[in-house]
Amino acid sequence: MQLILEIKNLHVDAEQRNVLKGLNLKVGDDELHVLMGPNGSGKTTLAKTIMGHPQTHITGGEILVDGEAINDLPPNERAKKGIFLEFQNPVEIEGLGIVNFLNTARGALGKEKISYKEFMGEIKANSESLRIRDDLMGRSLNYGFSGGEKKKMEILQMAMLRPKFAILDEPDSGLDVDAVKVVAENINAFREKTHASMLLITHYSRILNYMKPQFVHIMADGKIVREGGTKLLGQIEREGYGLEE
Ligand SMILES: Nc1ncnc2c1ncn2[C@@H]1O[C@H](COP(=O)(O)OP(=O)(O)OP(=O)(O)O)[C@@H](O)[C@H]1O
Ligand SMILES: [Mg+2]
Repeated sequence: MQLILEIKNLHVDAEQRNVLKGLNLKVGDDELHVLMGPNGSGKTTLAKTIMGHPQTHITGGEILVDGEAINDLPPNERAKKGIFLEFQNPVEIEGLGIVNFLNTARGALGKEKISYKEFMGEIKANSESLRIRDDLMGRSLNYGFSGGEKKKMEILQMAMLRPKFAILDEPDSGLDVDAVKVVAENINAFREKTHASMLLITHYSRILNYMKPQFVHIMADGKIVREGGTKLLGQIEREGYGLEE
């Protein structure tokens, strides 16, 4: 198996606070990994650190993508390597039109040039399949969007930017039951089409009813404390994390 992501003994401070405390993780090509764990255990900090968010500071350890250390790369260089992050809380950017944003981002990532018609066709197909209302596409990015609409917009970005490794930080949070299914189906379709690897962060097993992850990791206090297959999901659902204080 070819590794796409390897994290070795990662220590990270967020605004001077030590959040990640010796975390190890391996993700192979074409694999779906689920990351769960109590609030505040450091899941989002891990996601932001992989993407190179300026609030995170690596104080020890290494992040390798395709065998190469990316610790010192800026976020745009990481994106060019095919890494994508869906934000837990997407920001609103007034004045940044969605179509313009997606087109510029594709260009910056060096994606193959396609005609405007083809590009718009792709946006339409993806937004229809995500059940994103037409009129939203004419607005500024996430501006005035509902929580669920923002989360769908992140998946649309993933579909259009075609990363090879996507970190999805709670793609199901704030979604109604039908929307969870729609989003899960779109994530599955994307994986089938591109064979992208994914790290999916969630609190709920509902979205996992529609997906087939190969690995489940449980995080607590800045580290991975349990790992296994999908059996672990049932166990957590029944018993909680059962983590000792
Ligand atoms: N920029 C920051 N400044 C100060 N503390 C931070 C910062 N970012 C994260 N933390 C702290 O680090 C800890 C981990 O936060 P993080 O957001 O990674 O948790 P999480 O596992 O994603 O939680 P949730 O399930 O609630 O989303 C928390 O105690 C949080 O307050
Ligand atoms: Mg979080």
